Amino acid sequence: MNLYDVYPLNDIEITKASGSNVWDVNGQKYLDLYGGHAVISIGHTNPHYVQRLTEQLNKVGFYSNSIKIPLQAELAEKLGQVSGKKDYQLFLVNSGAEANENALKLASFYNGRKKIIAFSGAFHGRTALAVAATDNPKIVAPVNQTENVIFLPFNNEVALEETFKSQGNEIAAVIIEGIQGVGGIKEASKSFLQKIRSLCDEYNSVYIADSVQCGYGRTGQFYSHDWAGVDADVYTMAKGMGNGFPISGISIAPKFKPWHGQLGTTFGGNHLACAAGLAVLEVIEKDNLMKNAEEIGTYLIEELKKFEQVKEVRGRGLMIGIELPEELAHVKKDLLFKHFVFTGEAKPNVIRLLPALNLTKEHADDFLKAFAELVK
Ligand SMILES: Cc1ncc(COP(=O)(O)O)c(C=O)c1O
Repeated sequence: MNLYDVYPLNDIEITKASGSNVWDVNGQKYLDLYGGHAVISIGHTNPHYVQRLTEQLNKVGFYSNSIKIPLQAELAEKLGQVSGKKDYQLFLVNSGAEANENALKLASFYNGRKKIIAFSGAFHGRTALAVAATDNPKIVAPVNQTENVIFLPFNNEVALEETFKSQGNEIAAVIIEGIQGVGGIKEASKSFLQKIRSLCDEYNSVYIADSVQCGYGRTGQFYSHDWAGVDADVYTMAKGMGNGFPISGISIAPKFKPWHGQLGTTFGGNHLACAAGLAVLEVIEKDNLMKNAEEIGTYLIEELKKFEQVKEVRGRGLMIGIELPEELAHVKKDLLFKHFVFTGEAKPNVIRLLPALNLTKEHADDFLKAFAELVK
């Protein structure tokens, strides 16, 4: 049997990982500023994480949501505390797309409406409604096409206001990334998020903050949407939540009332997933990682802005986009194969940095040195 070949692969096999470093099968060491796509939040093979998962696996790894799992309540308590949304409710699932599907569904249950507002450049996942709300027709299959999703220009308050004025009573939800990741590290302005909040209040629509990539402390606030100073009704989170263990969740405002059977999943919130989620939050809290992400991120952004060859540096904390001119399109590959630094990318020529939140200044300087050599 062959693998279904959908991923363009780099010819690298990783066999060892620690902190912000990984090693390939030949013993070559790499600096990981990609974090396996923003997933490694507390560093590879973090000792507390490994210990907590190992201990849990030796007790019980999985049982279904038909029994009490106190670890879920423990995780909800900790998440409420670290995220600052203590009165919100937690529903646990397994991936970013699944978190967004459930958030959209919950919104529709809440106000009985069908229309979703999403924005140009958005990425919300590859399943049913999540992909329909994603601005990439290439990955939307005919069966996913729906007239229920209205795309508006990102950060355009006038278009948003006009749409609410004409069909506000039909809008179930507005879904938005605090910083668009796949879209090229583009930040939603504070006033735009505040406008979404006030229009959702006025029309009883649901404000969904997709924090799958930009959340979990990466920007220095727990959810990057927090920078706007207004709360969303539902936050979706995934990537950094389990440091590689598949766990995702939605944080739900108190005004939503659950009923048995409204949402559900087989794997979501299992013992091992909760242990991973708890270990991540414990390390984020104990090691003050949100502060580190903000400080090292600000340092990197300021240093990167000094390069005149760079078109634009965007982002916040450790979610950084470096837009390069066409003639420097080779830099990403050269970082990997000549300087052994993993980074992410976005089209057309954006290098994405999504490292672990405990990246050190030394790591940042190693990257800046390699980058300087490649762009000079
Ligand atoms: C903002 C955002 N939302 C949703 C998703 C989908 O997450 P997953 O791949 O875990 O389904 C992604 C994945 O890149 C994302 O960046």
